Amino acid sequence: MLLEEIKSRKSVRSYNEEPIPDEVLNEILEAGRLAPSWVNVQPWKFIVIKDEKTKELLFKASGEQKQILGANVIIACVADMEAWDKKNFGAVLEKSGRNQMVQDFILNSPTLNPSLLGDFERLTRTIEQLTFAVAYMSLQAEKSGVGCCIIGALANEMTKGDENIIKELKERLNLNDRQVLLTVLSLGYEKTPRETKKIRKEPQEVIFFEKL
Ligand SMILES: Cc1cc2nc3c(=O)[nH]c(=O)nc-3n(C[C@H](O)[C@H](O)[C@H](O)COP(=O)(O)O)c2cc1C
Repeated sequence: MLLEEIKSRKSVRSYNEEPIPDEVLNEILEAGRLAPSWVNVQPWKFIVIKDEKTKELLFKASGEQKQILGANVIIACVADMEAWDKKNFGAVLEKSGRNQMVQDFILNSPTLNPSLLGDFERLTRTIEQLTFAVAYMSLQAEKSGVGCCIIGALANEMTKGDENIIKELKERLNLNDRQVLLTVLSLGYEKTPRETKKIRKEPQEVIFFEKL
């Protein structure tokens, strides 16, 4: 039952040395790849990172969050604005089997194609999509017994962090100026297993029926 993983999942920031087998890592990546997205545009790229130098750079970019250095594997989640370009978005629509008229309607509709509205709308919609992939991967990690921390506090174009670090990181990861490193997942087996504590708002604070 999925609710079990949702209940037991917690941010894990300390890992032992045990490597994550490739098949386990592949299942986590598959969960991200198969996540749903706006008109199925899939505006994401996932970069698997094991290289210590790249981890060092991510450590710096994250304001020295140690779980990055201790992780067995990092998955860098890239928001890919190029996915909305007519050529790429069109290719996804064509693959879906929609007829040409419907494809054109979607591509030319400001509601369905946020890139027609501007950079802000395209970026916010892209982030919205990445959230699903990140959530799916973190839940698959939990199911596989792999500890995971979602790390969003990173120097990037949105947080306006250190420009030199952003530049160096983008070069290292081979990102262009329309690809933003949004989030990284640090992954590894939990060093000292601890209980999950869910510190959350109460149901009556967040769940309403019919109106707020
Ligand atoms: C989008 C996002 C970004 C996050 N960024 C960080 C981060 O930079 N560093 C960190 O230690 N935890 C980060 N977290 C983890 C949250 O702090 C954590 O999920 C929250 O406190 C609830 O705790 P739990 O995950 O253990 O249930 C992030 C979580 C999300 C969803």
